[in-house]
Amino acid sequence: MAEAEIKLDGATYTLPVFVGTEGEKGIEISSLRAKTGHVTLDIGYQNTGSCKSAITFIDGEKGILRYRGYPIEELGTQSSFVEVAYLLIFGELPTGDQLRAFTARIEQSSLIHENMHAFFNTLPPSAHPMAVLSSTVNMLSIYYQSIFVDDGNTETFEMIVARLLSTIRTIAAFSYKKSIGEPLMYPQPNMSYSSNFLTMMFSKPNIPHEIDPDVERALETLLIIHADHEQNCSTSTVRLVGSSRVNLYSSICAGICALWGPLHGGANQHVIEMLENIHRQGLSVKDCVNLAKDKDNSFKLMGFGHRVYKNFDPRAKMTKDLAKKLLSKKQVKDPLFDIALELEDMALRDEFFLERKLYPNVDFYSGLIYRAIGIPTNMFTVLFAMGRMPGWIAHWKEMHDTVPFKIGRPRQIYIGEKERKYMPQSKRKTFSLFNIFKS
Ligand code: SDX
Repeated sequence: MAEAEIKLDGATYTLPVFVGTEGEKGIEISSLRAKTGHVTLDIGYQNTGSCKSAITFIDGEKGILRYRGYPIEELGTQSSFVEVAYLLIFGELPTGDQLRAFTARIEQSSLIHENMHAFFNTLPPSAHPMAVLSSTVNMLSIYYQSIFVDDGNTETFEMIVARLLSTIRTIAAFSYKKSIGEPLMYPQPNMSYSSNFLTMMFSKPNIPHEIDPDVERALETLLIIHADHEQNCSTSTVRLVGSSRVNLYSSICAGICALWGPLHGGANQHVIEMLENIHRQGLSVKDCVNLAKDKDNSFKLMGFGHRVYKNFDPRAKMTKDLAKKLLSKKQVKDPLFDIALELEDMALRDEFFLERKLYPNVDFYSGLIYRAIGIPTNMFTVLFAMGRMPGWIAHWKEMHDTVPFKIGRPRQIYIGEKERKYMPQSKRKTFSLFNIFKS
């Protein structure tokens, strides 16, 4: 095995180097502190691998994304979301019988406990759907007691998996219906995952919603390309929270909260709001690109940039094509799409973006498709969460299957006060609260 050498205080230490299936190299530092008394420091974990994983491979330099070895371009166009969920969670593409059984289990688990509806009735119409989703998913651990799979009970695990994949869709549609004051539309049997969602969202009592096959396929593809993305912020959150051996529902709830942030999954909502602003105020795309480069203001080109991709995010290419196809099929002329194309074109000819390798990411075009489907903007990240559910579950399972199983507990370097004596109140001076936030 290759080794790395560290020279510290006149001594030389060697650390093993682990090489992955695709040639990625990691210096194993689990013995670093014991050997050298040092820990590493890596703000934002930009260079730190938290685990070895067999689920998803990304090559950020080449713009490659594969789930269990299968290229995202093939899965996105040829597979179904339920089949990809099975692949991510259980490791292989299912046989016909396995897929039928998994699909049936998902359809049988699509209802939430009727008592949970009381929660929906208390919600203000302005409640953000991500707040509703995270609260309701954690509520599943109240109503469904078989929540610990520590005993390796596959039956329980498969049941919980089906319930999470299925009820996130029901919860999303129910909270939408509640927010617009329409009656809930219950999940139907014998419909594809996406068709059932669209039916729950857009049908009304005695007015069935006619499913456009292109819309259904677009939604399936969107869910597939969002299904996993290795150790992103929300998946790392699910792993860290799950490492305390809390149940899967609560681990997923934490992941939903992390995804909501505008730097992560929340960006898809912020991209559309940015494009709407540009359109409404008649701003020039050039002004926006210049604003995004100006260090003195917080404006960022939402949907641009990525921690890993230093080339095109393959998902951004797929969503751009999908948006173009769906808008022309529905004969919709969306001015926001034209603005997005102009923004991309201008940014990718600008030194600031090229130097920093800032390309459109998955969130740049996805919102335009959700918009064309009729999904309200504040629900876009909910759809991201629906897509990411199998990835979160797969990583939680992989972590529990890994030996040794360790609770996640990073170290730190302390930079605060040295030891000091307790000060009587009479001797204390007032201080500006702001100072304590400027570490
Ligand atoms: C997702 O990790 C995943 O895999 C996430 C995800 C998944 O599938 O799970 O792919 C989903 O979260 C996609 C990202 C969605 N977020 C956004 O679109 C928000 C806008 N993007 C940025 O906030 C940023 O690019 C991040 C958060 C995505 C990445 O941040 P990094 O890796 O910490 O990079 P950085 O902020 O340090 O930026 C490096 C430089 C900086 O300039 P300098 O200090 O070098 O001069 O690039 C600049 C940044 O100011 N920069 C941007 C920018 N993104 C980075 N400048 C303008 N607009 C932007 N969007």
